Amino acid sequence: MIAIRGATTVENDSAQQIRDSVKELLREMMAQNNLNNDNLVCLMFTNTTDIHSYYPAKAAREAGFYSCPLFSSLEPEIDGALKLCIRVMALAESSAPAKHVYLKGAKALRKDISQTIAIALDGPAGSGKSTVSKILGQKLNILCLDTGAMYRACALKCVKEGVSVLDEDSVSVLINDIALEVKFIGGTQKTYLDGKDVSQEIRTPEISMCASKVSALGCVRQKMVAIQREIASKTSCILDGRDIGTNVLPDANFKFYLTASPEVRAKRRMEENRQKGFDEPYEKILKDIVERDNQDKNRKIAPLTIAKDAILIDSSSMTVDEVVGFIENKIQEKI
Ligand code: DC
Repeated sequence: MIAIRGATTVENDSAQQIRDSVKELLREMMAQNNLNNDNLVCLMFTNTTDIHSYYPAKAAREAGFYSCPLFSSLEPEIDGALKLCIRVMALAESSAPAKHVYLKGAKALRKDISQTIAIALDGPAGSGKSTVSKILGQKLNILCLDTGAMYRACALKCVKEGVSVLDEDSVSVLINDIALEVKFIGGTQKTYLDGKDVSQEIRTPEISMCASKVSALGCVRQKMVAIQREIASKTSCILDGRDIGTNVLPDANFKFYLTASPEVRAKRRMEENRQKGFDEPYEKILKDIVERDNQDKNRKIAPLTIAKDAILIDSSSMTVDEVVGFIENKIQEKI
């Protein structure tokens, strides 16, 4: 069993603020600790004396925590204590180390664990970004977001609805209310479109090419970048993509640009495809990679380019472990 600490603040003592803040805090604690309701043993809340309008435990019940015992109590009034603060202790069945969560003004209570770090990993198709970032995410115990999967899901939506990825007006209507969700289940990213897990369906060569085209459209980028920034604002993470260091997170703590020669990338992609059951000729893969590079590098909005402050890694003659080790060393040097 583990004990997870959480705390947040409200701007004022209103029932709605308390409901929203408790819901957000519990959602984060559950997500960061990979828990579901069945793993929870109990939730114990305290709040500062300037909060009277609602019980945090009642807010938790309303947020869907029906089965576990809940408890709320008032903290003593202490000079200099943080104002309008709600604290919780969650006991849960888990063998993983507890990740404590401090949100909003409560971050000030635990500056040691509230510093989030953001790592930008950009580069062209087939450079090994996804593989490297998944390993780094696991090693550093931080979330790893494959932003390409989001553009792929937009492309899949267009293909399914019969909308050309070059027709910006029609794509804009489609993207405006796209039901796209990125979930992290057991540390693995799953991409959902219209409520369906499309994580595999978006990996075909056809969708790769359509994703490159649709990602050039301003309406698509605006929507995807907003979601990516929202995810990165809440937790430490590594984002892999094309424009993370230059556009999505220009203030990222660490920026890397991973590349390799088109020939090496095509060979790697051929191996990957074979393992997934697509047998495409090397020449076709190489041609697609070069075409995607051109599209991604030459589009008007947020093209693929090396951020001024990024560290360039040419992995043409490096193994995955060597790339991961190199990045880990660079991070260690700076932390
Ligand atoms: O990384 P990937 O191959 O899954 O990405 C698919 C396409 O999405 C890629 O060709 C360009 C686009 N993309 C982008 O424009 N910006 C990102 N941050 C990530 C991907």
